[in-house]
Amino acid sequence: MKKWTVAAFKAAKGIQKLGCCTAYDACFARLADEAGVPCLLVGDSMGMTMLGYETTLPVKMEETLSAVAAVARAAKNALVVADMPFGSYQCGDDLAMSNAVACLKAGADAVKLEGGASVCGLIRRMTTAGIPVLAHVGMMPQRVNSYGGFKMQGKTREAAARVLADARAVEEAGAFAVTLECVPAELAAEITAALKIPTVGIGAGPVCDAQWLVMHDLLGLNEGHVPSFVKKYANLADEVKRAFSEYVSEVASGSFPAAT
Ligand code: KIV
Repeated sequence: MKKWTVAAFKAAKGIQKLGCCTAYDACFARLADEAGVPCLLVGDSMGMTMLGYETTLPVKMEETLSAVAAVARAAKNALVVADMPFGSYQCGDDLAMSNAVACLKAGADAVKLEGGASVCGLIRRMTTAGIPVLAHVGMMPQRVNSYGGFKMQGKTREAAARVLADARAVEEAGAFAVTLECVPAELAAEITAALKIPTVGIGAGPVCDAQWLVMHDLLGLNEGHVPSFVKKYANLADEVKRAFSEYVSEVASGSFPAAT
């Protein structure tokens, strides 16, 4: 297997559909990488999957950098994308630049940030400086407080036109791909056809060039609410609990450890 680069990811549009997922640590990043996942996103969803928060908002830059470094050490072939956490790029472009640089120094191949037309100046500055950007439009979880919940976006004609305009704007600004989160499938199909860069959908139907799934949803590790578009490819929560409980019972009964 060859290392996935930003150029290879872009070139896959129309040729190969890519099943991508999140990763937050070296253990699971190595397993996903060895299984052939082409792109691992060190998502700010780690706030919910790994750190026990209700939203992605509390994730800190230091937590992102430590997770990016762990994933990058383990991923030999996957493209590693660092998801810039809330506050790391909203408080001025100089701070955003230095946080993006820190992501690449920690081992990321690219950064992801949420926003359409409003972040195009920043995307231009980053890409000009050699920092590849994967954009994110549609439902942007860092805006959960403005939406009043994690709600599908682009449902009316006007809202759909705004999402399409955002997607065109980030392409024009130099993003190498764009995430479409929780938008109607027909809108995602229209955007996928309209853009030259790949779309990476999550809750955006089957037509996107690539898909994201949050690793904990994909593996069935998440026992809380799981969005309806998720497919669980395993039920690891049950298996992990069975192993822990068998271990506790065997120690209690004296059958582990065995006498030497
Ligand atoms: O943080 C994350 O996991 C994401 C995906 C949902 C795209 O941004």
